[in-house]
Amino acid sequence: MKILFVVTGGIAEYKVVEAVRFQVKAGNQVKVVMTQMAKQFVTPLTFATLTNDIVYDSFEASTENPVAHIALADWADQIVIAPATANFIGKMANGIADDFASTVVIASTAKKRVLPAMNVNMWNNPAVQRNIEQLKQDGVAILEPAVGALAEGYSGKGRFPDAEIVNAFISEPVEKTATTFSGKKIVVTAGGTREAIDPVRYIGNESSGKMGFALAQKAEQLGAQVILITGPTNLTLAEDSSIQRVNIKSVADLQVALERAVQDADILIMAAAVSDYRVAQVADHKMKKDDFNGELEIKLVENPDILANLKRPASLKYVVGFAAETNDLITNAERKIQKKKLNMIVANDVSNHQIGFESNQNAVTILRPNHANVELPQNDKTVIAEQILKLIDQEIN
Ligand code: CTP
Repeated sequence: MKILFVVTGGIAEYKVVEAVRFQVKAGNQVKVVMTQMAKQFVTPLTFATLTNDIVYDSFEASTENPVAHIALADWADQIVIAPATANFIGKMANGIADDFASTVVIASTAKKRVLPAMNVNMWNNPAVQRNIEQLKQDGVAILEPAVGALAEGYSGKGRFPDAEIVNAFISEPVEKTATTFSGKKIVVTAGGTREAIDPVRYIGNESSGKMGFALAQKAEQLGAQVILITGPTNLTLAEDSSIQRVNIKSVADLQVALERAVQDADILIMAAAVSDYRVAQVADHKMKKDDFNGELEIKLVENPDILANLKRPASLKYVVGFAAETNDLITNAERKIQKKKLNMIVANDVSNHQIGFESNQNAVTILRPNHANVELPQNDKTVIAEQILKLIDQEIN
């Protein structure tokens, strides 16, 4: 892991010396950027010695690299701003890049972690709290300061937390590079629905839910707030996942859950395989075969088209449907995009058993009104999910 520490000017800097040392000892590659103010508390030589590198503190600092701020920004897997002053937090929250350190931070797409430390009154200042909220919305991880004795005789919230807490926070794996969909709410539906025949039997379909889960997980990684409405599946989400999972069975359940979930959502991705028909009269007891003289007819009635009839809130700017077809893929998909008023339809050929339903792989054609079709060749569903989300991102941002 390549960790770039950005050290800003505060008394807690001496504790950051320990944090840098810990990460170097843990086998990480560590570099340090210091602001001009930071150099007044701890000398650059301390960090240079610990990291066996120069300390980066100005645009001129590294003449061997004419664009040091971009090189550093690209180098880092994660940027740790510690201690983070109220001023630096304010600059980050408002996109200000007026010195070397803030320019590196703004130029990087790496995961960012901020460890604020300051006087209690500064921490409680509404402007600082607003900026902290903004950073959270931007997908920046914040380690809240600890409560206790502060410099200048104050006590309250503002202390740089203890070493174990700091080290654990910085050592958390970086899989959530929250950028693209920060602040966006995305609803994904996944899996197949089940229509009950009696208390123990149902009409279902082959959908595994894998494509929908992959989309939900990628969207989460890209910073979105995700609601995943799923039919029965044995797929699970990571324990620390922020995805809100809603389990449904029937189309009626799906409709209720979806109407609730799309309130103030920005994007809907409807990957669920929805049963077009349901049983007209669901038996309230287990049906017995001897009741039916060797022949059983079940009457089915049509389900509503959830996607076509969904009442869309004003916030909902982008709606994606799926079309699993065995023949006339493009013609059928084109018809569905119009009928269901979609911004995109993801069409796949389910007659090919190497892809689709139970498989971990998929190959799809993306159709959008007024765009040429895009073929996404066979690949893992996670990769296909990422490609779909990139296309959505291009259109909404
Ligand atoms: N869909 C829906 N409600 C239904 C049926 C489908 O919301 N009652 C959604 C699916 O989740 C999918 C899209 O509409 O995103 C297309 O689903 P598909 O089953 O391919 O289309 P149908 O309209 O059911 O057409 P057909 O079964 O005739 O192919």
